[in-house]
Amino acid sequence: MANEISIHNRINSAQKEASDLPARPADEGQIAAMFDRVAPRYDFLNALLSLKQDQRWRNQLVSLVPYKPSGALLDVATGTGDVVFTAMAHRKEYTNFTGADISGEMLALASAKARERNLENMVDFRQMSAEKLEFADGSFDCVTISFGLRNVVDKEAALKEFSRVLKPKGTLLIMEFFTPRLNIMAKAFDLYFHHILPVIGGLFSDRAAYTYLPRSVQAFYNPNQLRGALYRSGFLVNQEITFLFGGCKIIQARRLA
Ligand SMILES: C[S@@+](CC[C@H](N)C(=O)[O-])C[C@H]1O[C@@H](n2cnc3c(N)ncnc32)[C@H](O)[C@@H]1O
Repeated sequence: MANEISIHNRINSAQKEASDLPARPADEGQIAAMFDRVAPRYDFLNALLSLKQDQRWRNQLVSLVPYKPSGALLDVATGTGDVVFTAMAHRKEYTNFTGADISGEMLALASAKARERNLENMVDFRQMSAEKLEFADGSFDCVTISFGLRNVVDKEAALKEFSRVLKPKGTLLIMEFFTPRLNIMAKAFDLYFHHILPVIGGLFSDRAAYTYLPRSVQAFYNPNQLRGALYRSGFLVNQEITFLFGGCKIIQARRLA
């Protein structure tokens, strides 16, 4: 009986947390707390839910990082740091790698991975918001953000910060989910994101977070709106790679001046 009550309470509180999380993020503290909760199972679920495609996507993202001897790269919303580690493996001519995130638990895992790989002296993981980057103007040759922009409260403020901390003509790379344009694919996506993903996410981790994920994709910019926001923030889109039938895109943009 006590067990039944506790399970019932857990389901109730997960449902409450899910309904507390607006599809369009409104409170950075709430977003950080959600990612703190999912951090321990984040990498495992990423691989499982993407059918192990996540590393392939990161490799594609990093393949668009420009060649820059002694270059500096900032990965915003770095999570457990895998974009940074991929960049370190493929862009060996860079000498400065930094990861920034608002979730202390995600960053703790990123730092632990750096120590395990003996890379702790070559990468700097720092807790800060995409909306308020604590770096001087023109500090980086490349800024990356992978599955992060959707979660930022004021997205244009973040894009303007990316422009500010980039050197003139520096490169911004954004990887993000979108709703596919083709109706049949949008339906398949909807089925997977709204009905399968939250169940698997709920089995291994925080169901509320994996219920928020598809809602946040729906509430995010469509590709045209993102291009507009980039332009208003001082970027010109150079190149786009589309996969998952339009469900995921990598956008490469260049800071205008
Ligand atoms: C879905 S995870 C992506 C992690 C990693 N980039 C990846 O591709 O696996 C989103 C990350 O964005 C971070 N995040 C959300 N809002 C942020 C903000 N305003 N500034 C910095 N990081 C943020 C979260 O803490 C979380 O670690």
